[in-house]
Amino acid sequence: MSLSSESPVAVLCSGGDAPGMNAFLRAVVRLGLNRHQVPVLGIRDGYRGLVRAARQVNADTDGLVRLKQEIERNIGNRGLIDAQQNIIQMDHASVSGIMGKGGTILGSARCLDFHKPEVRREVIDLLGKLGVGSLIISGGDGSLTGARLLAEESNLRIIGVPATIDNDLQFTEMSLGVDTAVHTLVWAVDHFIDTARSHRRVMVLETMGRESGDLARMAALASGAEMVITPESGALTESRMRGLAEKIEGAMTRGRGHAIVLIAEGVKFEPEQKRNGAYILRDAFQAYFQRAGAPFPDLEVRPSVLGHLQRGGHATPGDCILAARFAEEAWKSLLDSNGKNGITALRYNKVEIVPFGCPDLPERSIHSRAMDALHDDLANW
Ligand code: F6P
Repeated sequence: MSLSSESPVAVLCSGGDAPGMNAFLRAVVRLGLNRHQVPVLGIRDGYRGLVRAARQVNADTDGLVRLKQEIERNIGNRGLIDAQQNIIQMDHASVSGIMGKGGTILGSARCLDFHKPEVRREVIDLLGKLGVGSLIISGGDGSLTGARLLAEESNLRIIGVPATIDNDLQFTEMSLGVDTAVHTLVWAVDHFIDTARSHRRVMVLETMGRESGDLARMAALASGAEMVITPESGALTESRMRGLAEKIEGAMTRGRGHAIVLIAEGVKFEPEQKRNGAYILRDAFQAYFQRAGAPFPDLEVRPSVLGHLQRGGHATPGDCILAARFAEEAWKSLLDSNGKNGITALRYNKVEIVPFGCPDLPERSIHSRAMDALHDDLANW
């Protein structure tokens, strides 16, 4: 379907929120209205909003009429204010002043229902009834899988946009939100280091990232944290943990007073453990430092699980710029009559569209290993 002012493009944010999503929404709406004269519908709460709207329409014979009236009546901020309105016609003012604001004004959610083909069918039918021919979906791995399924099961034009602090999408060098999350982690380390130095402590900080250690390793490199433990370096056994504690103790013997250790949430333990890695490591380190005859029995270890702190806050200029570039490429593809469905990706510093299911960039894992080596060589052990 070719784009026209009668055929709106819909946009949604899905999965865990990521800083930069608002800058992205702003860019999608402003490019749509200013550059392409195509209206943009914002979908509240990701796929969940679409499912709710489909149910609203299917509930009775007037459902569709009522939904259309609601969209036409409550434009922009009026629609955004009403938390019950699932689809909002975006205008200039609705994206004013949101550039760096954390979270997403549209809301985001994970939607288990969307795993069901019959639910996706309801959503595809709904978009058809509303005359929506194209959908832009920003989110992480699961959200982009949803986008791929929609593309396979309909004639909709679908563009996915990587947005996740985890940086675990290996077909792109960066996802939206990563730069800000790294920035936040550097800020956090700067705060923890004050107490670490003052009390001569070891601080073990657990970072997010799901199965990926990228967020932790980028934060370690940028903050100068002494040690970083990622899932890619394998499971932590008793003996590996002892080795890490020995390394810290050795540094203390040579005059170091404190250490910051980052551990990614995805790190596994052998034998398997249920608790957060930061606490397991604290116990292992503390037991080692207090063993009989140890040189620093008073050395204290404190764990912190940084959690959702990493997902919030003002987006960095780097994320805002990437958001604008992703939005521009998404529009370019939607307006190209030969354009294909796919995902915006940053590859070799260029933004392009890659197909759904695009293989990993081999450079990503090489780059991760190089970052680990660089971090090791920069540490003051
Ligand atoms: O994918 C982003 C992320 O923040 C992960 O790093 C983390 O494992 C997960 O989401 C947390 O999810 P929730 O916000 O549902 O607790």
